[in-house]
Amino acid sequence: MRIIRDAAELRAATQGWKSQGERIALVPTMGYLHDGHLALVARARQLAPRVITTIFVNPTQFAPHEDLGRYPRDEAGDIAKLEAAGCDLLFAPGVPTVYPPGFATSITMRGPAEGLEGTHRPQMFGGVALVCTRLFGLCAADVAVFGEKDWQQVMVVRQVARDLALPLEIETVPTIRAPDGLALSSRNAYLDAAGRQQATALHAALEHAAARLRAGATAAEACGEAEARLREAGFRQVDYVALRRARDFGEMTRLEEAGRVLGAAWLGQVRLIDNLPV
Ligand code: PAF
Repeated sequence: MRIIRDAAELRAATQGWKSQGERIALVPTMGYLHDGHLALVARARQLAPRVITTIFVNPTQFAPHEDLGRYPRDEAGDIAKLEAAGCDLLFAPGVPTVYPPGFATSITMRGPAEGLEGTHRPQMFGGVALVCTRLFGLCAADVAVFGEKDWQQVMVVRQVARDLALPLEIETVPTIRAPDGLALSSRNAYLDAAGRQQATALHAALEHAAARLRAGATAAEACGEAEARLREAGFRQVDYVALRRARDFGEMTRLEEAGRVLGAAWLGQVRLIDNLPV
């Protein structure tokens, strides 16, 4: 696997592949890779003969009070995992490569960027849209692969790709879970042993909401019950449990068509998110 940190070197590599007619699949990550990320790499390998993974902890998607400075990192471990997964190229740029001096563009989004994560982390989706657009261009990606664990992010990335006519496809991979149901996430590294056990309640609460919705409960009832279960399980704050349409992220008061039930809650200082198809 080649490891590249420089934009010009990356361009030479991608132009070489393109001149051979080889398509490029991109897996954008912030590193500290787990099996969920490796499932994205495996899907990317099915989609194109060349796979680039990026590791970049993107400052524009963190608010000043958030965990940018302590976001977990293990580049040597990540490199070993990507080698074993058959990734062709790791692009691990520094901040000045992604946002060179004089960089002047920002992205403001409505639609799927509004509500839920967009309310609780107002910085997040403009930063995600910006970095993804930039990484798609730098990597000359034909397809990019994202995990469904960040469902709202997937909706945002699809929207920005459509709105800006970006010449690539967006693919997704279902959430990979631990045997007890907890969605794999780099931020699970922040949990202590007790928190790790309590954390399974998030998936269980979303399963409960999904079952109640399927049985005909209103979104207010089903999500309200799930929130109560989270508090009983020791979550100190529930940011939301909500139902959205799968198609366009619009709100539904009941399960009228395929949807997604999403939740975000705090265990101590650790904020966890998850979602399920319903
Ligand atoms: O999901 C993530 O890890 C990040 O939001 C992404 C898509 C790599 C953009 O920084």
